[in-house]
Amino acid sequence: MTSPSMTSPPASGFIRADDVLQGRLSDAQTVFLEKQYGHGKLIRLLEVVGVGGPFKVMSPWELEDARGQQIINASGYAALPFGDNPPELNTFLREVLEKTDQVMFGQQSITTWRAALETNLVRLLARESHDHHDSRVFFSNSGTEAVEAAIKFAQAARPKAKYLINFTRAYHGKTLGSLAITPNPNLQGPFRNILNPAVITLPFGDTEAVERAIKRVGDQVIAVILEPILGEAGVRLPPPGFLKRVGEVCRAAGVLVIADEIQTGLGRTGHWFESVAQGLVPDILTLAKPLGGGMLPVGATIVRHEIYKPLLGSVETVKRHSNTFGGNSLAMAVGLKSLELLMDHDYPARSRAMGERGLKRLTALQRQHPGLLEDVRGAGMLFAMNFRPVAKLPFSAQGALISEVTGMLALVAFYRRGVLLNFSLNAARTMRLTPAMNMPDELFDRMFSQVEAAAAEYPSSFALAQKYGLPELLALGKAAFLEP
Ligand SMILES: Cc1ncc(COP(=O)(O)O)c(C=O)c1O
Repeated sequence: MTSPSMTSPPASGFIRADDVLQGRLSDAQTVFLEKQYGHGKLIRLLEVVGVGGPFKVMSPWELEDARGQQIINASGYAALPFGDNPPELNTFLREVLEKTDQVMFGQQSITTWRAALETNLVRLLARESHDHHDSRVFFSNSGTEAVEAAIKFAQAARPKAKYLINFTRAYHGKTLGSLAITPNPNLQGPFRNILNPAVITLPFGDTEAVERAIKRVGDQVIAVILEPILGEAGVRLPPPGFLKRVGEVCRAAGVLVIADEIQTGLGRTGHWFESVAQGLVPDILTLAKPLGGGMLPVGATIVRHEIYKPLLGSVETVKRHSNTFGGNSLAMAVGLKSLELLMDHDYPARSRAMGERGLKRLTALQRQHPGLLEDVRGAGMLFAMNFRPVAKLPFSAQGALISEVTGMLALVAFYRRGVLLNFSLNAARTMRLTPAMNMPDELFDRMFSQVEAAAAEYPSSFALAQKYGLPELLALGKAAFLEP
């Protein structure tokens, strides 16, 4: 794999694109360079416990690590709707690059790719809810940017209001606007001074709390922002009727509703739009992850026309929100094709069916191993396993650390049985399975069989720690606390 010039870590000089393209950068060199020039602590810890790759993609759903172990990839964070490097998108992208005569960088020009994607997004949402028949789309380069845009559209439409209402354990991103409405003390901690303080956080699922808050300060509330199902909190579903009631209360008071469907939207939970399926028609809806087909970042903020106008609908205000690369032709082409694949195969319906099948198995597994799994949850192909802590300590700060360690050990245990899980940013002991929505039936069933085999091998959380091994635990502790 490695060319004669690339047998040892390049200590100096530049790496040519062709060296990477032709596979001349070895695994060892890649790890060395990542550690030297990038490499957050998370990647270091994943490397130490042996689950961090680099991986070879064997099929859209399977990876192989440097030791030759085959892994089923359930860690797409809902951003791999068709798996890794799916052939349909790969082939399509090549054709786009060969044939398109559109400008790639469309900030200041009209392009067919963007026109097509915005049309389809609005028509899809309007098919589910007529209120969006004349909505507009704003494109950006990530989920958090789509949320930032949503906040600005909402504030511009309600200029006198000052509060945003969000919910406990929500996750909306890490740029400053999104972070302000992500009530996680660890993520917000050092940045509190520069975060918007005008945020009212209510218990997720508490209808009466929403009614009371809107009654008390509704005229000062810009918008309620919510995830219809909390993704990063470990797939937490609201009680039936909650979302519908929030919509009714807000509409009656003129308060806007922003549905953040970056994780739930476009089929993951078994519906095109989870909020709409639950009877809530949001004024603004954000999308990202699956829209990029696992290939390119594509964020979209879909806004009802009358809400859109105050920010981008007049000459005086039209420059108040923009970005350089959002809506570029390559991203739009990938978004258009991804949406088409999702629609042609009706992946929301498949996600619903496979979700029921998977959740049945997880529920049975939890009953079998209550010492390992505290509970399990699911919505479509978004599954969560909540692990019991590996130890109980009296102080809550230690509890947080124990939760982190529990999550990491669970990740390793299931990896050893050939399944790569994904973390949950707002629930350290909860690991999610977010398999591709087109994962073949046989592989999907095998993935759950391997999950069951892992649980049988580690029947309690204590076993997670016990079987990990003392030398490995010490190496993990050293990497976590002693390395600079
Ligand atoms: C509901 C929700 N909103 C926003 C984001 C932020 O998206 P990104 O990581 O693309 O900025 C995420 C990411 O996990 C998410 O799940």
